[in-house]
Order: sequence, then C-alpha cells, then structure tokens
Amino acid sequence: MRHEIVEKNLGLMIVLIVVVISGGFLAEVVPLFFQKDVNQPVDGLEPLSALELEGRDIYIREGCHVCHTQQIRPFRAETERYGHYSVAGEFVYDRPFLWGSKRTGPDLARVGGRYSDAWQRQHLYDPRSVVPESNMPAFPWLFDNRVKHTTIEARMRTLQTLGVPYTDEQVASAASDIEGKFEIEALVAYLQQLGTVISDKR
Ligand code: HEC
Repeated sequence: MRHEIVEKNLGLMIVLIVVVISGGFLAEVVPLFFQKDVNQPVDGLEPLSALELEGRDIYIREGCHVCHTQQIRPFRAETERYGHYSVAGEFVYDRPFLWGSKRTGPDLARVGGRYSDAWQRQHLYDPRSVVPESNMPAFPWLFDNRVKHTTIEARMRTLQTLGVPYTDEQVASAASDIEGKFEIEALVAYLQQLGTVISDKR
C-alpha cells in the first residue's frame, strides 16, 4: 500500500532515490577519502619516468588493457600465479588506472622483471615465436616508430597538476630524455616496472 504511494508520486520517488543514493555515498565512498591506505602511495612508489610514461600511453593506444588486467585479486589462485595481490597505494599516480576487467591474456600487474627485455621485445614483435600457442597480436610497428617527445612535457605538467609529484627538473628534461627513442623501448620500460614496488613476488 505504502509502496503504491511512492510509485504513483514521481516527485516523492525522486526525493527518496536521492536520499538512498546519498546515504550509500556517505557510507561507502566518503570514508575512502580519509583512509590512508587507499589514498597514500605505498613505500617506495615513484612516478613513472618520461620514457615509462610514454610507454604507458602506447599501452593504452594499442589496447593492451583490453586483453590484460593490471589487478591481482586477493585469492589464492591469483596470488600463486601472479604474486602479491594488488593494493590501492600502488595506483595513486595512475591516472586513469588500467585495472581492466577482462583477461584474454594473463594479468600484468606484476609482470615487471618476470622476463628479460629481450624476451619482451621478441614477444611483442612476434608472440608466437616465443609462445607457440599464443593468440596475442604482433606489434611490429613499435620497432619503427619513434616516441612523441614534443608533447611529453605538457602531459607531465598535467599529471603534476593532478598531484603526481614530478619535479620541475624532471618535466623540463623529459623531452630531451626520450627524444629519438623507439616506441618499443618505451613500452618495455613501462612493462618492466609494473608491480615491482612490492617485492613479495612469486
Ligand atoms: C587480443 C588480446 C591481446 C592483446 C590486445 C594483447 N595481448 Fe598480451 N597476451 C595475450 C595472450 C592470450 C597472452 C598469453 C600468451 C602469450 O604469452 O603470448 C598474452 C601475454 C602477454 C604477456 C606475457 C605475460 C606473462 O605473464 O606471461 C605480456 C607481457 C603481454 N601479453 C603484453 C602485452 C602488451 C604490452 C600488449 C599491447 C601492446 C598486449 N599484450 C596486447 C593477449 C593479448
């Protein structure tokens, strides 16, 4: 009966919906802003270098995140395979984060250091030459394209504005640091640091 009153009265329904959603927001979301272990970087976390940041942008451009997650859930099957589960403090400089939700390939949250640079390069050039059953696409153009060094400074400045602690010197030298590098170097540099700040690995 009372339910019927709400269903027939749109204004009242809107007010009640707003009350319920605000309540949920206050209880679930607001406390996170004040909870240190979700908004403070884990010990030793450094912002990505100019080359790694460039690699991250290439990772996004090539859609790697569509097949790979970067988030190890706290379940035994995951931690045995990939290493320590992901913690929020590892991602505070990640804007936007690349956790993903679909795993066509394995999770990459702790892939840094698991393979040599040479393996990573060969795998990206021709995945089936190192993993015969792989259905990952090849990315041979990364070996021909040079990185976009002219825009890196502006991108780092933007991240600085958003709270990523780059020093002015790092931003100023970014373009010359990466000028002339190949995209593959940037992407491998990015992959090789993934998840390395937490050392309890498999
Ligand atoms: C169409 C889906 C797909 C896309 C897109 C894709 N991958 Fe993969 N990736 C896979 C699959 C499947 C595997 C497992 C087989 C293998 O190792 O090749 C894999 C494996 C990997 C591995 C080895 C992980 C491990 O722990 O053994 C790395 C590193 C990797 N991919 C990086 C990348 C990067 C970087 C990109 C973007 C440039 C990318 N992948 C794009 C499907 C994909």
